[in-house]
Amino acid sequence: MKKTHQLISSLSALALAAGAFLLFPPLAWSDNDDQALIAKANALFKPLPASSALENTELTPLRVALGKSLFYETRVSADGRLGCVTCHNPAYHGADSLALTVGVHGKQLPRNAHTVFNTSLLIAQHYGGNRATVEEQAYKAVLSPLAYGNTSNEQVETKLTQLGYLPLFKAAYPQDAKPVSVENWSKAIGAFERTLLTPAPFDKFLKGDAQALSRNAKLGLDKFINTGCAGCHNGVTVGGQSYQKFGITQDYWLVTGSTPKEAFKGYDKGRFHDTKDEADAFMFKVPQLRNVAATPPYFHDGSVATLPQAVRVMAQLQLGKQLSDEDVSHIVSFLESLTGDIPADFAQVPRLPVAPH
Ligand code: HEC
Ligand code: HEC
Repeated sequence: MKKTHQLISSLSALALAAGAFLLFPPLAWSDNDDQALIAKANALFKPLPASSALENTELTPLRVALGKSLFYETRVSADGRLGCVTCHNPAYHGADSLALTVGVHGKQLPRNAHTVFNTSLLIAQHYGGNRATVEEQAYKAVLSPLAYGNTSNEQVETKLTQLGYLPLFKAAYPQDAKPVSVENWSKAIGAFERTLLTPAPFDKFLKGDAQALSRNAKLGLDKFINTGCAGCHNGVTVGGQSYQKFGITQDYWLVTGSTPKEAFKGYDKGRFHDTKDEADAFMFKVPQLRNVAATPPYFHDGSVATLPQAVRVMAQLQLGKQLSDEDVSHIVSFLESLTGDIPADFAQVPRLPVAPH
């Protein structure tokens, strides 16, 4: 009798405890936690602005439309087959799906293509930061022996004129005595790129909508900050605002499996190849993490296939930490909240000029 009594009371204690567990789970996330996390996040990150137009440079519809056509235009490249869109494709969130991109005449380039979304907000362009603005990037790309393979400005301008672009350049840049120029090619493409901003659920969260992120994404954001990721990946683009050494705790290739590249006469040393300064060896522009979940594979050479693996590699190489599977999965949920919609206009293929006969 006594025993049964004991059993019943311990069972009811158990039931009570279970009830309490349901009511107050150990990791309960409260409204206060939401407010604290929103404040913490706002100290490190910023929502995307409505526009990234340059001062004194209007993003007129005619310039943006011309820039979009030029972005999709493949006939200006040396083999007639390659445009910005080849490597920065709407199907892959403004990147391509390759580890290393393939340039003009089918030649493999030594780096992975970034997404082209939100890049006008970065400190500079490319892993080495050797192009200051999206305009300078577009200018140099069309003359790069690896990308477009053109050898002079005149060559590019003649091709554009022969393809029937003169009226479009004239309309977009009516003040210019010589509207068809590589200068205006770069300005128009830059204008188009400046419209390619991708607000995401994370922006809503930063602006105070606590429901915009799932519980796992919130736990992941908290982990991302507390682990130290936000020490490098911060600001409006969650990265892209500084240069940092890749491989702080050990040589990166021991963990990523990267291979030496002919173009770099060995392992890619990042910014060093642009500045030739030993202090820049293995310094890379910290990539933005907006849309990162939609743009595998990862790192400057696409050496890591999946996002969970990229997160583990980062924790180990940059912070000397091993993350649990649960932490990795929460951080990945947070990173997924940085995926924005593809700008509607970007995905719609433009009608390009037909070369006059
Ligand atoms: C052959 C493929 C290819 C073509 C064509 C190409 N890109 Fe890229 N793009 C890349 C690669 C690879 C990188 C990374 C280069 C690096 O970091 O050294 C890149 C980087 C960029 C970046 C820098 C983004 C960042 O986060 O730093 C921008 C912007 C960009 N490209 C825009 C363009 C535009 C505009 C065009 C057309 C004028 C273009 N690209 C043509 C492959 C390509
Ligand atoms: C000390 C600075 C630093 C810290 C801390 C850091 N990162 Fe990075 N991160 C970088 C740099 C630099 C790269 C570019 C490496 C490369 O490709 O050469 C990078 C690349 C990445 C990439 C790949 C992006 C892409 O498009 O290929 C992801 C994902 C990433 N970091 C996530 C994280 C996470 C998650 C943490 C925390 C666990 C973290 N990072 C901590 C500097 C840092």
